[in-house]
Amino acid sequence: MRMMTRRMFATAGLAAVGTTVLSACSLTPRNAGQSQDTTSGADASPVAEATLPGAEVGDAEPVEDGLLLVTGGTFSMGSPEDEPWRVADEVQHDVTVDDFFLSPLEVSQADYNRLMGKDGGSSELPIAGITWYEAVAYCNALSAEAGLEPAYAIDGDLVTWNRAAAGYRLPTEAEWEYACRAGTTTPFNMDHSPSAEEANYYGHYPYEIEGNYFNQDVLETKPGVYRGEPIASGSFAPNAWGLFDMHGNVAEWVWDRYGAYDAKTTENPTGPESGELRVNRGGGWNDFAKNMRSAYRASLTATSSSPSVGMRVARSSVLREDVVGGAASGGKVAGKPLVVFFSWSGNTQLIAKEVASQLGVEAVEFVCEHPYSSDYNTCLDEAQRDQNQQARPALVTQIDDMDQYGTVYLGYPNWWASIPMPIATFLESYDFAGKTILPFCSNGGGGLGQSVAAISKLAPAAHVGQGLSIHYSGGSEMPGEVKGWIDSQGPQD
Ligand SMILES: Cc1cc2nc3c(=O)[nH]c(=O)nc-3n(C[C@H](O)[C@H](O)[C@H](O)COP(=O)(O)O)c2cc1C
Repeated sequence: MRMMTRRMFATAGLAAVGTTVLSACSLTPRNAGQSQDTTSGADASPVAEATLPGAEVGDAEPVEDGLLLVTGGTFSMGSPEDEPWRVADEVQHDVTVDDFFLSPLEVSQADYNRLMGKDGGSSELPIAGITWYEAVAYCNALSAEAGLEPAYAIDGDLVTWNRAAAGYRLPTEAEWEYACRAGTTTPFNMDHSPSAEEANYYGHYPYEIEGNYFNQDVLETKPGVYRGEPIASGSFAPNAWGLFDMHGNVAEWVWDRYGAYDAKTTENPTGPESGELRVNRGGGWNDFAKNMRSAYRASLTATSSSPSVGMRVARSSVLREDVVGGAASGGKVAGKPLVVFFSWSGNTQLIAKEVASQLGVEAVEFVCEHPYSSDYNTCLDEAQRDQNQQARPALVTQIDDMDQYGTVYLGYPNWWASIPMPIATFLESYDFAGKTILPFCSNGGGGLGQSVAAISKLAPAAHVGQGLSIHYSGGSEMPGEVKGWIDSQGPQD
């Protein structure tokens, strides 16, 4: 991989710590007047020409798209092993990224719907509920409108990225984390954990509440408001490089497929070349604080969407003459439907029975060798302990001849914003390669939380479809919601 062209687009701008404002902003942050000082220690006066180390001055093209120029560098990607609520896939390794352009704001519904000809309204709220494929299609549409060479070639479910193109694209996972951190090495891009007045998330669950649920006085950041919806991007102070909402509001699709970090590819990594899962970063309005840490990695199948996952656009500053993207996804195996579930207080069981009845099969319940306590507070503690330790509670229930099944309808309650650990035991006990997993989740208001991301990571060779979220047992509307969900998945063999 050889760098062929080094091109600089920047003209007039403001030099700031690590970033340079590229041009007159067409995107106006809502709190532009109350931003934190991003220029301390740097020359804040307008400069005639942004100077980048190694850039070929004179090859500049003016752009007026409001993106910020993020000056490249080397940083420690991932989290240290002692970071609270760290996940094992956040292995720390040094990564270098080139200069790139990144939007300070998340893409709005107004911008997305106008360009893509959708009816979804013209709100300033961030677009969400789009698949990864829709996100890359938006990037290409934006390039077409701007007269730029598109970054992506889209052929069915195969998407390749031409790194010689100057068009709009998603940031890579490394670029995203580099930009989010803005030079910080702490769990969040500020010197404390964000309150609900500093980021839009499930504010009842600030950082480290899990271990202190019954002793909240010791928390650095106390529980705050849960808005239950996205708000206009730019409503809070930006990070030190002028980027808004890197923590919370909507999580953001990035280019990379999900997989273990490749410690050998330390320069401008672009992720695995195969797999169906794509990463999204930063957490959203319904995530606990621990799941919007700078290093936290969420993933969903590229064809899935979530009401708390949206996007932000990037462009290359350094163009490379290669194409990355890899292989199309593997085929699906055919077979009978299997309905399995774990339920503590019966809600998931009701839903599972409805799913099974509509499919004309029996639902199978997971029974643990050591069941969780029937006392609610004790169960909260036990469930959180298991999640913290990534335990794999032993199951009495075994599935005979898993090969006969093609689609697994998997039911569980939302526990601490994710799956109960018996579901992890199940997913690690069988080979799901080529099978489809359709998750359904009963919850007390947190929706699917990070449960679908957790399932995707535990069964990376499966096709994990769109999940169904049901509030508690769903009431009289539940059978209709189940039917709509099953029908929306298309025919399953
Ligand atoms: C240990 C535990 C943790 C929970 N964590 C969450 C949560 O993070 N978000 C949420 O919306 N509901 C949470 N709930 C509520 C359950 O998801 C909800 O009551 C669900 O309907 C229970 O399903 P079940 O009856 O099948 O066990 C939790 C419940 C328990 C017992």
